[in-house]
Amino acid sequence: MTSIDFDAIPRARLPALLRAMPKAELHLHIEGSLEPELIFRLARRNGVALAYPSVEALRAAYAFTDLQSFLDIYYAGASVLLKEEDFFDLGWAYFERAAADNIVHAEIFFDPQTHTARGVTIGAVIQGLSHACRRAHAELGISAKLILCFLRHLSEDDALATLDAALPYRHHFIGVGLDSGERGNPPEKFARVFARARAAGLHLVAHAGEEGPPEYIRAALDVLGAERIDHGVRCTDDPDLVERLARERTPLTVCPLSNVKLCVFPTLADHNLPALLGAGLCATINSDDPAYFGGYLNQNFVETFAALPQLSARDAYRLARNSFEASFAPAEDKARWIAALDHAFAHA
Ligand code: HPA
Ligand code: ZN
Repeated sequence: MTSIDFDAIPRARLPALLRAMPKAELHLHIEGSLEPELIFRLARRNGVALAYPSVEALRAAYAFTDLQSFLDIYYAGASVLLKEEDFFDLGWAYFERAAADNIVHAEIFFDPQTHTARGVTIGAVIQGLSHACRRAHAELGISAKLILCFLRHLSEDDALATLDAALPYRHHFIGVGLDSGERGNPPEKFARVFARARAAGLHLVAHAGEEGPPEYIRAALDVLGAERIDHGVRCTDDPDLVERLARERTPLTVCPLSNVKLCVFPTLADHNLPALLGAGLCATINSDDPAYFGGYLNQNFVETFAALPQLSARDAYRLARNSFEASFAPAEDKARWIAALDHAFAHA
């Protein structure tokens, strides 16, 4: 990093550099990458009736006021996913886009309860996605891993049953997470299932501080043992917590376009990413649910940097480097990707 002259990189070079630099994506819900065109294709293939007459009508419904207004339409979209091949097609479509964005490593969330509640077997979900991950590695050179998320609006007993059903496929996923409606569903509700996942040797992450208060971030760390916080942007309401996250180097997987679409911040120019980086936090940029929120990872980077002129080439490097350091990849892979990142900036 010391050999890179960040100040010599003109701001006009940044969009191209943001696109070209190698990066990891750590907060991507695979069901949130389901594009309207694929929803209609799978609906036809599976004989599923949709509430919208066309791709355009469906896209026009993507106007959200908060997290719940999004989740209602997101779970409806996922209803076309029935067979193992559907999950493969979903995963593969994302990996083709990830390759175009120079993503070299992706840790992908999936929500098995969204599917098992409709009678889909957890084996079909996991094996279809896992097949896409293996093909992404073989054909696109992307290191791709799966993280099973529990839906926090459902009971902990439901999450425990889901973990039990998933454990025969333990070698297909690297960790567990916690997503869906945050308000009124604090991390404490899932203490037992996270303890059981930890005993199975799984990594632990949790959404916290997207709409919920800083206390939910503390509980995700202290009660669940989360190694990363997904979103976490509301930590800035609590300066002691910010100081702790910086000291412990707890990564935050920030999703700028998502935050604006779900009204967490009014505009990208109001986003607190510069404050998070300024406080020394290990923040990363991610796309969350790109089919619904207006862009994949490079779009998140380019639009965020365009809206926040205080972000510099040094911040671009830091964000990409953080994405590798915050990942659950082996140290030798991280070192290789960081060397490629250094090369991209040294020749910018
Ligand atoms: N928050 C909570 N649950 C989710 C999200 C999110 O941003 N995206 C998909 N499920
Ligand atoms: Zn999310």
